[in-house]
Amino acid sequence: MKLSLRFVLPLILVLAAIAYIVAPLVDQLTLRWFMRDLDMRSSLIANTIQEPLLDLLEADKRTKIVDFFNRITKDERLYAIGYCASSAGTALASRSMPPDIHCTNLDRWASSPDHLMHSPQGPLLVSVMPMASAATPDARLVLVHDMSFITHRSEETKRYLFYFFMGLALVISLVTVIVAQLSWRGWMAGVRSLLRGEGLLWQLAAGVQPSMPEFKPIARDLQRLVRELEAETRARDEDQITWSPESLRSILHSELRGEDVVVVSNREPYLHQRKGTRIEVQRPASGLVTALEPIMRACSGTWIAHGSGSADREVVDKHDRIAVPPEKPAYQIRRVWLTREEEAGYYFGFSNEGLWPLCHIAHVRPTFRTSDWEQYVAVNRKFAKAVVSESRTKNPIILVQDYHFALLPKMIREELPDATIITFWHIPWPNPESFAICPWRNEVLEGLLGSSILGFHTQFHCNNFVDTVDRFIEARVDRESFTVSCGGKPTAVRRYPISISWPPEADLMAKPVSDCRRDMRQANGLPLEHKLGVGVDRLDYTKGIMERFRAIERLLELNPEWIGRYTFVQIAAPTRSGIEEYQHHETQVRNMAMRINERFSARGVPPIVLKVEHHEPREVYEYFRAADLCFVSSLHDGMNLVAKEFVAARDDDRGVLILSQFTGAARELPEALIVNPYDADQCAAALHIALTMPTEEQRDRMRLMRGLVAEFNVFRWAGRMLLDAAAMRRRSHLIGKNGGGAI
Ligand code: G6P
Repeated sequence: MKLSLRFVLPLILVLAAIAYIVAPLVDQLTLRWFMRDLDMRSSLIANTIQEPLLDLLEADKRTKIVDFFNRITKDERLYAIGYCASSAGTALASRSMPPDIHCTNLDRWASSPDHLMHSPQGPLLVSVMPMASAATPDARLVLVHDMSFITHRSEETKRYLFYFFMGLALVISLVTVIVAQLSWRGWMAGVRSLLRGEGLLWQLAAGVQPSMPEFKPIARDLQRLVRELEAETRARDEDQITWSPESLRSILHSELRGEDVVVVSNREPYLHQRKGTRIEVQRPASGLVTALEPIMRACSGTWIAHGSGSADREVVDKHDRIAVPPEKPAYQIRRVWLTREEEAGYYFGFSNEGLWPLCHIAHVRPTFRTSDWEQYVAVNRKFAKAVVSESRTKNPIILVQDYHFALLPKMIREELPDATIITFWHIPWPNPESFAICPWRNEVLEGLLGSSILGFHTQFHCNNFVDTVDRFIEARVDRESFTVSCGGKPTAVRRYPISISWPPEADLMAKPVSDCRRDMRQANGLPLEHKLGVGVDRLDYTKGIMERFRAIERLLELNPEWIGRYTFVQIAAPTRSGIEEYQHHETQVRNMAMRINERFSARGVPPIVLKVEHHEPREVYEYFRAADLCFVSSLHDGMNLVAKEFVAARDDDRGVLILSQFTGAARELPEALIVNPYDADQCAAALHIALTMPTEEQRDRMRLMRGLVAEFNVFRWAGRMLLDAAAMRRRSHLIGKNGGGAI
């Protein structure tokens, strides 16, 4: 509307100016036309009256002539009429003849081009016509026309002209406004449809190759330009942010207007366990929990998870909620209860016997059962209901976590179409051939594509996912922008390497390193100078614990000087013990440790101390700080946060990290000793190097690694996702405001 007014006002002004210039011109033109008409009229009158006038003149009836003239001038336009026999005589004229006209000055009127005369009555037109006869060859007839009607007509014409131009301005304005409105609506509809993925602009914006071939070269250039600009802006923005709980909170408030964040994961951050008459609070061993807990402390909101602690039901309110952390509540856990059958099918079955080995490719065959799948679908639906009931707005921000909830994004999308759903897949994504094993692969893929953003730790896993989609389902895949559209809104597939909180919680670092070294050695009956290695994992076959033990055995074979001088403490948190494969694995690990200990124990100290029990983060950090090295030998791991925690724990810049090349962390921490866990000799050599590494080299490597973990901490991981989500929401809000759907 504003736009239309901006156009209409100047238009009216221009038209008024035109009217102002045109009116006098039109006036003059019409005056000329009238004068020509009157001249013709004069000839007509002269011809008509010539005969009777000559008759009267011949009869010399002068009075009758004057009467005759007076009668004729009753015509409203003919003002006066007169007759001059010669230029010297007196005129025979009607009463109305102006005194300025007499026979002696007739030539003046005859020769004047406009023969106009201005009298008190108004303008008069004087026409002089010859009226010759044999007796009077110079006789002339004078006809004086009243021109005042022309003035009236001229004013009328001006008035009409004014109305005409005003009308014209009005019509043009109306047409302009209507056309502008129509084309604006059309344009907006166009933009909306394009943004919905139906046209060129969206395709350009989303980085999709346009369907019209003639636009392809332009599109490619534009897309490159947009990407470069985005990358530059992103890099600049990120450089300026020091990622901390405060910066995350401020992003939430400034970019997302303080929206509540809802997290959904299978594992809960705090379990309440009954120990006799007491209820103990436990923090589970889970990389996912390690990463997300500080985020929730910073953001508040609600964390929906399976209530799996033995005393969980006893401590929740009537809405199944409990505020945590217990010492200083900052957010809510909403517990979802599962029956034994549900847990068996969804958690132990489809998630951990199916998807877990499928994605890790750690030489354990995946098992897929229809009954497990049915429970998986049912439990995902149960969590979808919980998400909807916990969402206070129509467009909440929902962070869906991990492979337990592959179907959840689509289910949430069906209930809350405007929600921003960020799904993070914490484990690797295999190549399409491997994923093809899953009998419900299409449902899993379509479920995940309900997300607005789907995150993986590495670009390699993003590529595998996009390849898998491309291979198996009907979806528009764009590899330049890494977006996938499957029916509805597009899903951005992005790399967000997960990390840990930085700096680590103060109480985890409270005990000095020297005290930790002493206490941990004492606790395990080891001499104070004894070299100590540490491994901290769930007792999971993907962690390569047996390969680690094999490497220790090989070290002692190759470098027997370490026998009795070096011990490796393996903290192994019991996990998924309902699954046969895990029970089998535990037995194997225990037997192997026993065998190696029998072979290489000396001076009363074993080379391996295996602790199959739950340890709270405080104890784990004590071991990290006490150790000379930490060995992470995963056979395949999305990221592995133990590696980053070890680095964070070493504020003394000491200790060596040996890290499997098959972890996501190996891409970020090249200063670690990177090994292939399947190569026992190489790992043994790395152990020897670590045990003999000069302190300066330890310090240099550790400082670089600590710098990286500090900068790329978990607040950056979450912040980056939330910033991307905020940008998406801004775009969708813009379109929604104009009647379109969200993207
Ligand atoms: C991995 C998974 C997490 C899981 C954790 C512990 O890190 O990605 O989702 O919570 O293992 O496993 P659990 O089965 O005990 O939750």
